[in-house]
Amino acid sequence: MDAAEQSRFVLSLPVPEVSDIIKRFPAELRPRGNALLDQVVKNEAAKLARIDQLIPLLDQGNPHKGKELFFAEKSKCATCHQINSEGKQVGPNLSNIGANRAPRDLLESIIFPSSTIVRDYESFNVVLTDGRVLTGLIIREDSDNLDLQQQTGKIDRLLKEDIEEVVPNTVSIMPNGLEKTLTEAELADVIAYLMTLKKPQLAQKP
Ligand code: HEC
Repeated sequence: MDAAEQSRFVLSLPVPEVSDIIKRFPAELRPRGNALLDQVVKNEAAKLARIDQLIPLLDQGNPHKGKELFFAEKSKCATCHQINSEGKQVGPNLSNIGANRAPRDLLESIIFPSSTIVRDYESFNVVLTDGRVLTGLIIREDSDNLDLQQQTGKIDRLLKEDIEEVVPNTVSIMPNGLEKTLTEAELADVIAYLMTLKKPQLAQKP
């Protein structure tokens, strides 16, 4: 990792972790560490402020428009999420999401995907011996192979002997910047739609 990559990595961590890392810095690096910590604290505050600003708009969301948008090319949600058997399964199935999450949590998951990552969807960087780095979810592993599912849904079967290192990634594979693809009103529509989804998950039929 070069210095810029290192800073970007540290900035993606939660405040307590950064503070822990910085405590272990040698004395001469403390000032740089403290500057990073300040920035993480500021980023965190900016996120909270942005969420507080959007919350009041959620009441105006239209679930019908939200549904259309969810399955539209523009939002790409359905290229990764399944709702009632429609859509792909790169990310979690959202058929019952309205029963499990408050609107604020949905908003945070959509505009700041890496703030909290759903368990089992933690992504990994896989460094190959030829120097390439692939990022994705590890969906299967045995003594010889590792199956890595990338953002597009594509699954690569990698040979363990071609793998140099597997490093956990603190960044969600859910894309950043969805906030820029969707208008505030559209964001409210999608969340209104997700809040209507309260279907207990049935066991899959054979
Ligand atoms: C490239 C794939 C991808 C796309 C596109 C995508 N997501 Fe996600 N999404 C994920 C993954 C993977 C997770 C689980 C990891 C995480 O929590 O960030 C997730 C998590 C979520 C969660 C949190 C679920 C929970 O149980 O808390 C919500 C809500 C969500 N996505 C909604 C959306 C919406 C709405 C869109 C479209 C605007 C969208 N996603 C587009 C991959 C994607």
